[in-house]
Amino acid sequence: MSVLCSLKVCLGPHHRCISRKFKRCPSLPSASVIIAFYNEAWSTLLRTVHSVLHTAPAIVLREVILVDDGSTQEHLKAALDTYLASLPLVKILRSPARKGLVSARLLGSSGATGEVLVFLDSHCECFAGWLEPLLARVAELEQALVSPQVTSIDPRTLEVRKPVPTDRSPWRGSFDWSLSFSWEQLPAYENDGRKDDSFPYRTPTISGGLFAVYKDYFDYIGTYDDQMEIWGGENLELSFRVWQCGGQMEILPCSVVGHVFRDDPPDMYPDGPSVVYRNLVRLAEVWLDEYKDIFYTRVPEAAEIARKGLFGDVSERRQLRDRLQCKNFSWYLWNIHPDLYIPGLHRVEHSSLVNQGSFYCLSTEETEVFVSMDPCHGQEERQHFEYTEKGEIVTGGPIPRCLRAGALSVVLAECVASVDSASAPDEQTFEVIQHGMIVNLSLSLCLSATGVDVKMVQCDPTDVDQQWMFMEEPLE
Ligand SMILES: *[C@@H]1O[C@H](CO)[C@@H](O)[C@H](O)[C@H]1NC(C)=O
Ligand SMILES: *[C@@H]1O[C@H](CO)[C@@H](O)[C@H](O)[C@H]1NC(C)=O
Repeated sequence: MSVLCSLKVCLGPHHRCISRKFKRCPSLPSASVIIAFYNEAWSTLLRTVHSVLHTAPAIVLREVILVDDGSTQEHLKAALDTYLASLPLVKILRSPARKGLVSARLLGSSGATGEVLVFLDSHCECFAGWLEPLLARVAELEQALVSPQVTSIDPRTLEVRKPVPTDRSPWRGSFDWSLSFSWEQLPAYENDGRKDDSFPYRTPTISGGLFAVYKDYFDYIGTYDDQMEIWGGENLELSFRVWQCGGQMEILPCSVVGHVFRDDPPDMYPDGPSVVYRNLVRLAEVWLDEYKDIFYTRVPEAAEIARKGLFGDVSERRQLRDRLQCKNFSWYLWNIHPDLYIPGLHRVEHSSLVNQGSFYCLSTEETEVFVSMDPCHGQEERQHFEYTEKGEIVTGGPIPRCLRAGALSVVLAECVASVDSASAPDEQTFEVIQHGMIVNLSLSLCLSATGVDVKMVQCDPTDVDQQWMFMEEPLE
């Protein structure tokens, strides 16, 4: 029997998906769809399950494995078992206590019999033709982890927001130095070699829940770090590991899955957010090399966990990295994410920047666009600045902003010096000279404070308003 896996409907913006040819189903690998859940609503959970059963070609769908991560709600117990008994392709596994996403997914994948694991969240809707492109792509590239295009489902009305065609480039996964996942537009250089917008594109990170991967390859690269708890950080850990250890990750515009982005997921962290910091420290200690210090500077809670050694044993994960001869993080940054902003690795100074005329501190305003002078108030983020070896003056906080000198004014702007630029752009470069003057050399203008205003003015070594000091312990 030969069933053609052509896409009947493609919800995505790419009409070309409809005319694209994908492999015939009998030659596609078989799939196990794994859906871990914790206290999920009945309707959203079953919407996910039924949408898989309605859309996945029977010839490739081996099974749907639900994994209950220790849910406490009554409807997810006997009532769910009874309901699922009428769906022969659907199995349910239960973890006796809540252990988190990683453990639940590992429980599901260990019992899977399909060649490809397809992980979904428990509040999705899969649309016709979503599965075939994923399976066809991993069949082509066995060392790849591929994600569908995710479209959002409104958390209140549960309506799908149909993706609309746009002129803008598609989104890919990124991260910031607090190790939070973020989205960014696909840079132009990643379009080289793509025939059109319906073709897969590379992504430095994945957002988490939704991806397909060969089971053998998933096992080979070390599945997940099973000491990570609840959730948070596992998506970045997997992303860095796949790239550094010779694999790749892509987003496939022809595969579209809806996902409910909830405003406040239920019982996010039963023991508080420190569990995420612990996960992130595990990640940083294994994969980030010297770049982990940038993360620790940005997230003091994580630095504390690292200093006290409260992140468990990572020796097995380090052995995995050695065994697979994975590349270092600097390789990842240069080759996979060359335009990511890297705060100076060797900070020259970091502390409050105190003006010697007023003894006020340089402060970031709420908008993160302007700076002003304020009374110094301790080690708060808004008064924390770093002077980097590239000559930038950078704010504290998870997403650093750089001081930018205009002809007279001074503002905060996106920092743009990336790993492959030896220096920052001229207007984000300052030099600290005698008497603590902070100068823009080509204009010979100096940073100066007059009252609450910060300006660039003609340099005058005798003017105390132009004299600055980086101070660890600012004046109260
Ligand atoms: C990281 O790997 C590259 C090769 O990919 C090598 O040139 C570089 O020296 C390594 N960096 C460190 C700090 O080991
Ligand atoms: C000084 O600022 C001007 C105006 O923004 C800029 O064009 C110039 O490159 C800057 N030079 C240095 C060394 O900072």
